[in-house]
Amino acid sequence: GGRFRLHQRGLRGTMRLFVSEGSPGSLPVLAAAARARGRAELLISTVGPEECVVPFLTRPKVPVLQLDSGNYLFSASAICRYFFLLCGWEQDDLTNQWLEWEATELQPVLSAALHCLVVQGKKGEDVLGPLRRVLTHIDHSLSRQNCPFLAGDTESLADIVLWGALYPLLQDPAYLPEELGALQSWFQTLSTQEPCQRAAETVLKQQGVLALRLYLQKQPQPQPPPPEGRTVSNELEEEELATLSEEDIVTAVAAWEKGLESLPPLKLQQHPVLPVPGERNVLITSALPYVNNVPHLGNIIGCVLSADVFARYCRLRQWNTLYLCGTDEYGTATETKAMEEGLTPREICDKYHAIHADIYRWFGISFDTFGRTTTPQQTKITQDIFQRLLTRGFVLRDTVEQLRCERCARFLADRFVEGVCPFCGYEEARGDQCDRCGKLINAIELKKPQCKICRSCPVVRSSQHLFLDLPKLEKRLEDWLGKTVPGSDWTPNARFIIRSWLRDGLKPRCITRDLKWGTPVPLEGFEDKVFYVWFDATIGYVSITANYTDQWEKWWKNPEQVDLYQFMAKDNVPFHGLVFPCSVLGAEDNYTLVNTAAGGAGRARL
Ligand code: MF3
Ligand code: ZN
Repeated sequence: GGRFRLHQRGLRGTMRLFVSEGSPGSLPVLAAAARARGRAELLISTVGPEECVVPFLTRPKVPVLQLDSGNYLFSASAICRYFFLLCGWEQDDLTNQWLEWEATELQPVLSAALHCLVVQGKKGEDVLGPLRRVLTHIDHSLSRQNCPFLAGDTESLADIVLWGALYPLLQDPAYLPEELGALQSWFQTLSTQEPCQRAAETVLKQQGVLALRLYLQKQPQPQPPPPEGRTVSNELEEEELATLSEEDIVTAVAAWEKGLESLPPLKLQQHPVLPVPGERNVLITSALPYVNNVPHLGNIIGCVLSADVFARYCRLRQWNTLYLCGTDEYGTATETKAMEEGLTPREICDKYHAIHADIYRWFGISFDTFGRTTTPQQTKITQDIFQRLLTRGFVLRDTVEQLRCERCARFLADRFVEGVCPFCGYEEARGDQCDRCGKLINAIELKKPQCKICRSCPVVRSSQHLFLDLPKLEKRLEDWLGKTVPGSDWTPNARFIIRSWLRDGLKPRCITRDLKWGTPVPLEGFEDKVFYVWFDATIGYVSITANYTDQWEKWWKNPEQVDLYQFMAKDNVPFHGLVFPCSVLGAEDNYTLVNTAAGGAGRARL
């Protein structure tokens, strides 16, 4: 995700395309831009290869298309696709298949070949050899379907993207083998078209492939693609495979061959699903997505799809399965979004909760319930856990220095402060980090701090906060981990993350914030504060269950009979594997704890 700066937006109603001489991605993009002419106003600028067009990317990147919304597209094929969509193209499978092939099969081979030719100065078979397979694939597809273009009788997005990728090499006849006649005539047809010719002139400047040298030298050396027929796998997977015995495999094959009919009929699912003593009871959660955005494929792949597959598997096995998720609605991110859209936090949550629920429904995700964290149950359960921690002496108080804007009458979260970076003098450093030097900043150290909302100068004030006494809970946590993790299915990633937190020793964690949008803290002197989202977000799973059935304790206070599987992105592992377990261990209320933390490889926000 990225932060967009309003003052850097382009002209309204206009798109700007940034290309650069010698950048290979500029070829297809310029060729495709011709399509959009007359459909939208398009300014084309040629920039130097080092220019940072997209302010939030750390490396210069061209081509870039800046939309009139101010957002950026910075993948060549996404830009081409956008131009084609503008002029009325409707997606088709064949084109999409070619585009995927271009990205996953062609590009790796191609960038290795270009590197070899331009950077290492090799020639002939050294360059052509590894390319033959992909070139032949295109040639055969063209001649087999007996059409002049990749996806049919007329030129399509696939032709433009592949032409742009191949042009730097194939314009040199040495790399366009004669026996590939269909490829040759396809390539020539495209290359003689006006927009393609002009794109080639702009980008290669009649220097042929050497025009790409500067660009290619800056790219990391491409890894040679793996030999055919074998996909890259990591060691852990191989290790796991090795634990399957010959017998396991034979049984699996036999079951597969018998097909679905041989399975016992599926139990009819009746809501509410509840655990049954003596049977296998599986509780499955996917990390609760933040409510302040529209979910994208990354969210779904990250920890929803995997959990969904697992839930379906469990139901096939006739286990009592409850699979839940919901939106994570409290916190500054929601307040910020509300301010941006001129709505109240409650309105924002209602609006986006509905969008989320719809999208997951559309995807056919098999949640038994999709709830939310801003409910009375959430308040009740969170406050109860907190009270129990408090009476058992696991909560500390401390004073924290913070910036407060008197004009707005609020303490300022890091993202609401801007000022001069104490390290490098950058004028627009944020309250948590400087975008110029990248150093982490403590907001009270910013020079000339400003409230981002009203631009007045905040003052340093001290404020009382509550901390979860993790050092005091560490021993219990370790005992529990020692009993749970060995022999369980925690992913290697999740084990590793938890181990490294423990190795560094746990520190008290602040669980309160000076905000309005959150679960109220039920303690005298803390009436203006709420719980920090990460203290109660994970309690969301419990309250969502409580909103689903009043017998929720059968799931959540039943560690002997319930297996809890939690799917999450890797940046969420500490909260599920450590903070939440500590809270409920300290609460001493027989809560169900995670048996399997499936901490994916991905991050929560892509
Ligand atoms: N909303 C968080 C994220 O996207 C995940 C919260 S998971 C929860 O990173 F359990 F804590 F809710
Ligand atoms: Zn202010």
